[in-house]
This record gives sequence, structure tokens and C-alpha cells, in this order.
Amino acid sequence: IIVKDTVDEASAIVAEILLRQVEEKPDSALGLPTGATPLGVYARLIEDFRNGLGCYNRAHAFNLDEYLGIPGTDAASYAFYMRENLFRHIDFMQRNIHIPDGSVADASAEATRYETQIATRGGIDLMFLGLGRNAHIGFNEPGSPHDTRTRRVALTASTMEANARYFAPGSRQPTHAITMGIGTILESRRIVVLATGIEKASAVAASLAGPITDAVPGSALARHAHTTIVLDRDAAHEL
Ligand code: GLP
Repeated sequence: IIVKDTVDEASAIVAEILLRQVEEKPDSALGLPTGATPLGVYARLIEDFRNGLGCYNRAHAFNLDEYLGIPGTDAASYAFYMRENLFRHIDFMQRNIHIPDGSVADASAEATRYETQIATRGGIDLMFLGLGRNAHIGFNEPGSPHDTRTRRVALTASTMEANARYFAPGSRQPTHAITMGIGTILESRRIVVLATGIEKASAVAASLAGPITDAVPGSALARHAHTTIVLDRDAAHEL
């Protein structure tokens, strides 16, 4: 567990871990999250790349999750987010970018296809995660068993409320998503979690200091041997 004074410093640590991963293993498979939390990390990776640091043209990106019922061209989709906030600024090859397709008719088949794609690629080398206010990881909401695989899930009211700000007023907000399962995430060789802000403090405390339980998805991380948790001082407030 690493606690830094500011969001910026915490983001810099995570960016360095990602950078070192692709330096040490250029064909790494990286698991990548969305949300507000990773934005500082992605901004740093882009800046580093512009300064000649980091090479992603052999790396694979596997997005953690995607909304169901909206196409990747929708500004609220995670495909759009990843393109705008990371991929179009650095040298990932298009064919190495993997995101579940949220516009499919058969979400279960798409989830199985995605899970197979991760396995075929040899699993995730470094999984970067954020943490939901209710301690969800990916879209694995409280109650998700820790051995779940990539699948279609229903979003909780609290998650929908937390993410409502990303949807234009009057637009339809998705109620379901495809997410890597907790079991899928735990098979990653290394995990790095970034949580910042006082609104994450209780989720951080429940995940790191409470019992390992399905009620707290983040508590599953204690089952993993090589997980680094990076926090700012606010997120570490209840530890
Ligand atoms: C979203 C995503 C998660 C993310 C979390 C926190 O629902 N599915 O992968 O980690 O919520 O988001 P934020 O970083 O905006 O707080």
C-alpha cells in the first residue's frame, strides 16, 4: 500500500508502474480501467510518450468493462473514453486494442468471446483498477462472487448515480454492462489499484482492512499475491 499526499503524486506512481511494465515486457497485456480516477495516469503516460518515454506498439490493451446498449461511437462509451483519453495519443496498434462490444445483441456470447480472447493472449500481465464508491471493481458490484468470469451484469442504483454525470441530460443511461469477472481479474500476474478522494475512503477501508467477503468486491484483492494499492491521503483517511 502506497499513500501519497496528492492525487498527482499517486497518479505518477501508477504511471511509472505501467511504463516500467512495457519497458520490461514490450508485448505486455495491460488491463485498463475508465472513470475519473485514471485520467491523471493517462495524461502522464501521454506526456511521457511525447517526451520519448514508453512504447506500446507491441503491447495489448484489454479494457476492464463496457456499457451495454450503446455503440463505441457514443461519447459515454468506454471505447470512446479510451480512444480520447489514451489510445489516440500513443502508439497502440488498433488490432491490439480489446474492448467488449457493448452494441451486441447477445451479451453473454460477447462476454465469453472476450474472456477467451484474454486467455488466448496468455492472460493479463498488469491489471490497472479503480475502485467504485461501493468498492466495486470493474462493474463487479457488491455480492459478486470472487470467482466470477467476464459476463453481463446489472448496475446498482448507486453506481448509476455516480456515473450519471457522464451522460448528456435526457440521454438514456445504460442499466447493464459487460465486465471482466473478479476471478478473471485475480488471474492477472500483477494488479495496481488507484483510489483517490475522500468519497473512496470507506470503500478503501472496507476493501483493505475488513473481512474478505463477496459483499465487498475490493476485498478480493487480498487474495492476490502481487497487488499494489496506491492512494492519496484522502482515500487513506479511514485506514
Ligand atoms: C466505474 C467503472 C470502474 C471504475 C469506477 C470508479 O463504474 N466501471 O472501473 O473504477 O466506476 O470510477 P471513478 O474513477 O470515476 O470514481
